[in-house]
Amino acid sequence: VAVRAEAGAGGGINPAIRKEEDKVVDTVVTGELAKPLTAYCRCWRSGTFPLCDGAHAKHNKATGDNVGPLLVKK
Ligand code: FES
Repeated sequence: VAVRAEAGAGGGINPAIRKEEDKVVDTVVTGELAKPLTAYCRCWRSGTFPLCDGAHAKHNKATGDNVGPLLVKK
Protein backbone atom coordinates (compact mmCIF):
# COMPACT_ATOMS: atom_id res chain seq x y z
CA VAL A 1 0.00 0.00 0.00
CA ALA A 2 1.43 3.34 -1.02
CA VAL A 3 1.18 6.13 1.52
CA ARG A 4 1.16 9.66 0.19
CA ALA A 5 2.07 12.54 2.45
CA GLU A 6 3.10 16.12 1.84
CA ALA A 7 6.00 16.61 4.18
CA GLY A 8 6.59 19.91 5.91
CA ALA A 9 9.99 21.36 6.67
CA GLY A 10 12.14 18.66 8.25
CA GLY A 11 9.85 15.87 7.00
CA GLY A 12 6.96 16.40 9.43
CA ILE A 13 3.31 16.94 8.64
CA ASN A 14 3.31 20.50 10.04
CA PRO A 15 4.86 22.84 7.46
CA ALA A 16 4.93 26.09 9.45
CA ILE A 17 2.62 26.36 12.47
CA ARG A 18 4.28 27.33 15.81
CA LYS A 19 7.48 25.46 14.94
CA GLU A 20 9.21 27.01 17.97
CA GLU A 21 7.10 24.76 20.24
CA ASP A 22 8.17 21.18 21.07
CA LYS A 23 4.55 20.02 20.64
CA VAL A 24 1.55 21.99 19.40
CA VAL A 25 -1.32 21.46 21.82
CA ASP A 26 -4.58 23.40 21.99
CA THR A 27 -7.36 23.08 24.53
CA VAL A 28 -11.03 23.81 23.96
CA VAL A 29 -13.49 24.02 26.84
CA THR A 30 -16.69 23.22 25.01
CA GLY A 31 -18.95 25.01 27.48
CA GLU A 32 -17.15 28.25 26.64
CA LEU A 33 -17.50 28.07 22.87
CA ALA A 34 -18.74 31.39 21.55
CA LYS A 35 -20.40 29.96 18.45
CA PRO A 36 -22.77 26.99 18.10
CA LEU A 37 -20.40 25.41 15.54
CA THR A 38 -16.62 25.84 15.40
CA ALA A 39 -14.33 24.27 12.78
CA TYR A 40 -10.84 23.23 13.89
CA CYS A 41 -8.04 22.65 11.39
CA ARG A 42 -6.67 19.16 10.86
CA CYS A 43 -4.63 19.89 7.72
CA TRP A 44 -2.00 22.12 9.37
CA ARG A 45 -2.31 24.73 6.61
CA SER A 46 -4.72 27.20 8.24
CA GLY A 47 -3.63 30.80 8.66
CA THR A 48 -5.86 30.93 11.75
CA PHE A 49 -4.72 27.64 13.32
CA PRO A 50 -6.12 25.95 15.35
CA LEU A 51 -9.25 27.24 13.61
CA CYS A 52 -10.01 26.17 10.04
CA ASP A 53 -9.84 28.96 7.46
CA GLY A 54 -10.65 26.84 4.41
CA ALA A 55 -6.99 26.31 3.42
CA HIS A 56 -7.63 22.56 3.30
CA ALA A 57 -9.47 23.04 -0.01
CA LYS A 58 -6.33 24.39 -1.72
CA HIS A 59 -4.23 21.63 -0.16
CA ASN A 60 -6.67 18.94 -1.28
CA LYS A 61 -6.80 20.30 -4.83
CA ALA A 62 -3.01 20.50 -5.08
CA THR A 63 -2.28 17.05 -3.61
CA GLY A 64 -5.37 14.92 -4.19
CA ASP A 65 -5.74 14.61 -0.43
CA ASN A 66 -9.13 14.68 1.31
CA VAL A 67 -8.51 16.32 4.68
CA GLY A 68 -11.05 18.56 6.38
CA PRO A 69 -11.78 20.20 9.72
CA LEU A 70 -13.01 18.85 13.04
CA LEU A 71 -16.42 20.40 13.69
CA VAL A 72 -17.28 20.99 17.35
CA LYS A 73 -20.90 21.75 18.22
CA LYS A 74 -21.88 23.61 21.35
FE1 FES B 1 -7.07 23.00 7.81
FE2 FES B 1 -9.56 23.58 7.10
S1 FES B 1 -7.82 24.83 6.98
S2 FES B 1 -8.84 21.77 7.93
